[in-house]
Amino acid sequence: MTYQEVLDNARSHCTKCKVCPECNGYACKGKVPGPGGKGDGKSFINSVQYLKNIDIMMDPIYDNTAGQDTSIELFGKTLSMPIMGAPCGGSNLNFGSDVSEYDFIKGQAFGAQAAGTIGFTPDGPIDEFFIHGIELTKQVGGMAIPTIKPWKNERIIHHIRLAEEAGAVAVCCDVDSAGLINLKLMGKPVDPKSPKDLEELIASTSLPFIIKGVITPKAVKLAADLGAYGVVISTHGGRIIADAPATASMIVECRKAVGNRLKIFVDGGIRNGGDVYKCLALGADAVLIGRPVCHASIGGGAEGVEMYLNKIQSELVDNMLITGCNTLSQITPDKIRNRNTY
Ligand SMILES: Cc1cc2nc3c(=O)[nH]c(=O)nc-3n(C[C@H](O)[C@H](O)[C@H](O)COP(=O)(O)O)c2cc1C
Repeated sequence: MTYQEVLDNARSHCTKCKVCPECNGYACKGKVPGPGGKGDGKSFINSVQYLKNIDIMMDPIYDNTAGQDTSIELFGKTLSMPIMGAPCGGSNLNFGSDVSEYDFIKGQAFGAQAAGTIGFTPDGPIDEFFIHGIELTKQVGGMAIPTIKPWKNERIIHHIRLAEEAGAVAVCCDVDSAGLINLKLMGKPVDPKSPKDLEELIASTSLPFIIKGVITPKAVKLAADLGAYGVVISTHGGRIIADAPATASMIVECRKAVGNRLKIFVDGGIRNGGDVYKCLALGADAVLIGRPVCHASIGGGAEGVEMYLNKIQSELVDNMLITGCNTLSQITPDKIRNRNTY
């Protein structure tokens, strides 16, 4: 199976997503539920465009005896690459796919594991999304990160216990889901979390705790003060509000606000190894990728996801090779030129 065949296969299985050659937010504007960004799709499109307007500075004169090492230490484990699968649920609800929810999440989790990295698992209006993720976290020996919606704390803590029992390396709460229309439409609205709520959740577990769905330096600093292991700078792929800034545009300010006190991950519109490189040069520790991993899972199961992640890793290696980087820490701000005006 080639990656092109994986995409063609995904296209034949999806009725709500066109699986476009470039997954950029145009064809799916406003499709939430669905695969798109909210409203006119601007938040999603912004994130894709911002990354396009960053150049990578070639710098081919250096000693490359060591070669390129894309490995990274996270959650006390060594991952093969600074790239993880984002939590995504809704094979049928969001993609109109006939692949079962279980197989959809299985492809994401097993594919990430096969590529030597980690997939986050989803939560949603239908309880099975989370329960399947827990079952699959067990099956990949804990190398997955169950992500929990911002329900009432009592319910979240119950879900954290399930993640602990499954041996998960970390847990995550996507706090931005307080604005997610999918949950409201299905009669399961959730509220914003207060600092006190998050403090209680972080104290309730010894697992690294990740807060997903923040974009401001203020929120990232608060997450660090509360003892979070990391944050994901994320707008849920542009699905929460129509007018959020490009996620990558917030990395520099957020890093400045916290230094190295916590891990900064980012997602939104990251589509190739060059985009990963740019996010790292801006100051992110690692990235998450959502929709393209979903397409790979629908079209090729775990094999498709592994193939896709290996492809992105090899593109990252290509960029490191020609910019004088042997390790990820050498991907520094001077390696890029940012042509964005905001
Ligand atoms: C169909 C779909 C389902 C999603 N489900 C979840 C979820 O259950 N939990 C969550 O935290 N984020 C969810 N997200 C957001 C992703 O985790 C991620 O933030 C986003 O997809 C990143 O943008 P990208 O798809 O452009 O890479 C979902 C996104 C999509 C498109």
